[in-house]
Amino acid sequence: MCGIFGYVGPRQAEPILIEGLRRLEYRGYDSAGIATLSDSKLFIRKKAGRVQELARHLADDPILGSLGISHTRWATHGGATDTNAHPHLGPSSHGDIAVVHNGVIENYSALKRDLQNEGIKFLSETDTEVIAHLLARQNDPDLLAALRRIIPMLKGTYGMAAVSPRHGERIIAARLGSPLVIGVGEGEHFLASDPSALIGHTSKIVYLKDHQVCVITADDFHIYDASHSRVSFSVQNIDWKSTDTDKGEFPHYMLKEIHEQSESVANAMRGRLDHENATAVFGGLNLDPRQLRKAERIILTACGTSYHAGIVGEYLFEEFARIPVEVEYASEFRYRNPPIDQDTIVIAITQSGETADTLAALRESKRKGHRSLAICNVVGSSIAREADGGVYLHAGPEVGVASTKAFTSQVVVLAMLALFLGRMRNLSSLQGAKMIEDLQALPEIIKKTLRCNDAVRQLAEKYQQTSNMLFMGRQYMYPVALEGALKLKEISYIHAEGYPAAEMKHGPIALVDKQTPSIFLTPRGSVFDKVMSNLEEVKARGGPVIAIASEGDARAADHVASRADEVIFVPDVPEYLQPIVTVIPLQLFAYHAALLRGCDVDKPRNLAKSVTVE
Ligand code: M6R
Repeated sequence: MCGIFGYVGPRQAEPILIEGLRRLEYRGYDSAGIATLSDSKLFIRKKAGRVQELARHLADDPILGSLGISHTRWATHGGATDTNAHPHLGPSSHGDIAVVHNGVIENYSALKRDLQNEGIKFLSETDTEVIAHLLARQNDPDLLAALRRIIPMLKGTYGMAAVSPRHGERIIAARLGSPLVIGVGEGEHFLASDPSALIGHTSKIVYLKDHQVCVITADDFHIYDASHSRVSFSVQNIDWKSTDTDKGEFPHYMLKEIHEQSESVANAMRGRLDHENATAVFGGLNLDPRQLRKAERIILTACGTSYHAGIVGEYLFEEFARIPVEVEYASEFRYRNPPIDQDTIVIAITQSGETADTLAALRESKRKGHRSLAICNVVGSSIAREADGGVYLHAGPEVGVASTKAFTSQVVVLAMLALFLGRMRNLSSLQGAKMIEDLQALPEIIKKTLRCNDAVRQLAEKYQQTSNMLFMGRQYMYPVALEGALKLKEISYIHAEGYPAAEMKHGPIALVDKQTPSIFLTPRGSVFDKVMSNLEEVKARGGPVIAIASEGDARAADHVASRADEVIFVPDVPEYLQPIVTVIPLQLFAYHAALLRGCDVDKPRNLAKSVTVE
């Protein structure tokens, strides 16, 4: 949440900072701001609204300087106003200090009260402004020394950067719980809260660790630990292609990412299917076979869409590996103290690798001595680095706030893990070989599934005005129902609920009327007849019904078509892979409904791509 971009080098900073903010805008987009230094003067511009508003403002009122910091905000303290936008200023006789900050300063109100009692005037309602005033109050021309003195006063999380005319041509930055990376260029350096913002500038990056501070100039940078000692670091190469972050031929990132799923699923499987042994192979689990065989329980912990993938994982692990599984919201798991025995493996599932609750859940699990793994997309993210081992999704950057390709890649990785664990326990080589065959067919099947786009758009046209919608499914289709409802509500603002279809008669059926459509997930499978009965119950009460059904089985297809008002057919796949093909029409439905309702599909209101606050 929120994005930071900084630059120091020979070029004009303003266009570089604005471009960096555009790349980071998916992390927060309610206001943006920029500070540059030129001729020992500090220039600040900030604006409520999108980065585009700030860019317009700068076109009317440009600023010079080849050093600067910038920020795109997702409000935590105080509304989205020009004043609350970062950078915040700490006025000082040694020159004003401009600060940008991601994270939350939890003790800001006590700090603010103390500073106000000393006569310091606050302009904004933000927690960040206390950092600027605390720095200024140190009255120290050495900004690094000032920063080191105030860090122990701050409780909470931060990725922050500061500049001041008195401190010369340098940016100082610090990290605790909110990511920051340094981009290494030729005679220039960058600072960013997300490596993807550096694409096009440099492929060399250095991750800052918690409790580290750094000083960055055009020619050099130094990193210090909490005891003020200079530390060594490794420079890593980013291998993302710059086209990964373009929309290409698509009008929105979300639509592009939906269409990338054939490729992203293939990338998740690349090099991981072992035909000879009829199993899957993973390079980075860091667990020996003995530990894996001993595992008596798996806890999957995640938030949002990743949590829904976790429920699919629960069913997969139980079916194929016969291991008891629990799926926990990371935000609950981090504060619970459930009795967990030593042979439990905890797996955090996350696209961004930066979700604050998931990171805290992983840390809590490590603290208690459990082997703690991650299924993660963003290479080098906090969760990827802190986990004992894990599996990368290799889905490429997911920019649309609504998670799509990450979900299908997570399900594929979980299916491969179920195969891997199953083959260590009870799965025969024939069963293993069949699973590999099923998995390998997926990329082509996803391409075929995407052909439902036009039919789904017509559905969205018909139902776009609805205020409420229900999503129903059982077994493997239950988490898909949850995911379909989440997609719809987060980008179209239509109220939607997902339920296990049979739960409906325990309350939600009271919502059914002519104005409340239900989407039933009715692919071929073990609970087909049961779900059809639930569908009939809704029809009997006048509720419009849309069914997502399997191609290929004429009897079932006729049965569904004669009951539902509309049917979308998807390719027939084994039951455990149905979440991948059935979620696609739901992703497309949410996309088209949002578009028809005039919503900003890639940047829905009140949301941000990675939720780095609690
Ligand atoms: O990056 P993560 O997978 O940890 O993010 C978890 C959720 O914040 C995320 O899935 C969120 O629910 C998406 N907006 C859903 O589309």
